[in-house]
Amino acid sequence: MCGIVGYVSGKEDGAPAIVLEGLKRLEYRGYDSWGMASLDSKGGISTLKRVGRIGGAGSAMVARKLGGGGVALGHTRWATHGGISERNAHPHLDCTGRIAIVHNGIIENYQELKAGLVARKHRLSSDTDTEILAHYIEEGMRRGMGFAEATRSIAKRLKGRSAFVALDSSGRQMAAVRLGAPLIVGVGDGGELFISSDVNGFLERTNRVMYIDDDEMALISFRRGAPGAPKFVSVPRGGEVRKRVIKIGWKRESWSKSGYKHFLIKEIMEQKYTIAQAINQDDARIMRVANGIRNAFGVFIVGAGTAGRVCAAGQYLFSDIAKKHVNATVASEFSSYRHYLTRRTLMIAVSQSGETVDLLDAIGVARSKGTRILSLVNVFGSTLMRVSDESLMLNAGTEKSVASTKATTAQLSLLTLLAYATAGRLKEGKRLLLNTAEQVNDMLNPRYEERLRKLARQLRRSRDIFIIGRGVNFPMAEEAAIKLQETSYIHAHGFAGGELKHGPLALIRKGTPCIVLVANDDTKHETISNAMEVRARGGYVIGIAPERNDAFDYWIRVPDAGEASPIVNIIPVQVLAYHLAVARGINPDYPRNLAKSVTVK
Ligand code: G6P
Repeated sequence: MCGIVGYVSGKEDGAPAIVLEGLKRLEYRGYDSWGMASLDSKGGISTLKRVGRIGGAGSAMVARKLGGGGVALGHTRWATHGGISERNAHPHLDCTGRIAIVHNGIIENYQELKAGLVARKHRLSSDTDTEILAHYIEEGMRRGMGFAEATRSIAKRLKGRSAFVALDSSGRQMAAVRLGAPLIVGVGDGGELFISSDVNGFLERTNRVMYIDDDEMALISFRRGAPGAPKFVSVPRGGEVRKRVIKIGWKRESWSKSGYKHFLIKEIMEQKYTIAQAINQDDARIMRVANGIRNAFGVFIVGAGTAGRVCAAGQYLFSDIAKKHVNATVASEFSSYRHYLTRRTLMIAVSQSGETVDLLDAIGVARSKGTRILSLVNVFGSTLMRVSDESLMLNAGTEKSVASTKATTAQLSLLTLLAYATAGRLKEGKRLLLNTAEQVNDMLNPRYEERLRKLARQLRRSRDIFIIGRGVNFPMAEEAAIKLQETSYIHAHGFAGGELKHGPLALIRKGTPCIVLVANDDTKHETISNAMEVRARGGYVIGIAPERNDAFDYWIRVPDAGEASPIVNIIPVQVLAYHLAVARGINPDYPRNLAKSVTVK
């Protein structure tokens, strides 16, 4: 969470505007407040901080407040320590105002570190854990250390996952330190350097990157105009680490909403082709991966949030299609299963961003047991991709909206394909999924959307919405609840149909909406019976099903997609969630309190 952008060029101006542009592209990482620092013409640091989203803040406004300059830093915040205020927005400065810091992650031992600073009479002006970094660097330099050494010295003492960038205005240097949270260097055509939490911060300008690995720092010096090549140093050892410039193949994409009002609906509509893109994989490679799954002694499939629900669906898909037991676990709970991990175990890690901290921690646990890691990931060059033994790309393109849609169905599609390949039926799986992609293309037409918009208007004042499903559609009911909660803020809860009578049925009153996800499989009749039970108690039953049924008050037709039913069943819920948000006056792209990339625990 939190987005960091840094920029150093030999030019005399333009840096704040470039950082602002990158920051806007990282806003999905956090959008409570934002701030920037730039080096002014006299060599001092000017800062600008604001509460709320960057929104329409333009480069002219930023240049007016910060001036020009060739060096700038920026940050978009998702608050952890300290409330949402200008005072707590980054960058933070030391007592002398010569060191500026932006930070992502958590410094777990900050209280102890802060107490030392307070005792030594430092003037702390925020409630953040971040600010202590500026003061420790200040202190180190006052004791005679160089900026790099002072930065390294405090970095070594930090506990927890974080990443930070420090700017030293007097020495004209910048240090980008990675301690378990993402940070990457971009190398521009004219030798200018970018630092960013992920490639989106600079991809419009360069696709040449240098990866900072965990426990390393990149030092950039800009004493004589243009920056020199960054120097990479190991934080614990201090020695220099050699790095290469890597050209990443991720294509530059349009950041516009392509005529849509929000990214969420744009991304929902992109599912017309992203399902086919997800399964556009090399057959030989898929078969090799599938053999690895078949022969593994114990398979864990792990993800967080929506990806965690996809993993739970994957458990059913592998069971139904490949008759292979895989254990689905949410990433934050994975370490409880560490006793079952061996060198013959396989972990399948599923993630859109490839940066979710709980998942990366789970990978660490698996690695310590020698377990092999296969990842299904959307962001090229992400940490997950780099720590995996093998990665399959989801090919969904940039997903900007916090609520995942096209990455979700890409994950479901690729897992379904892998399940078919594991069963030795790759061709059949591909045929089914290509057919499903076509059906989704037909489904996402304006009339269909209009029907869901009307339903959203009808449901917009609901206090609760329940969703039920059986088999593979049980985790999809849970995913449906996530979608509805995060976009509309209506309380939503997904259950296994069979669990209804064990409690939730008591909450059904006259008119309570209950969405029923139906698949044309052996769960169908029992799911319909559950719908009847809800209706008999006055609930308003919305059936998402291939066929109409008397149990439904409202029917949303979906194609009969066989084993691909989770894909076609979740899409109408996504559209409904979008229109519920709009009907309730909520910006669906930026749900309150959330961020897309969850890099803190
Ligand atoms: C956040 C996002 C979700 C996502 C989850 C895991 O909660 O809003 O859409 O499913 O993190 O993220 P990942 O990038 O690992 O899929």
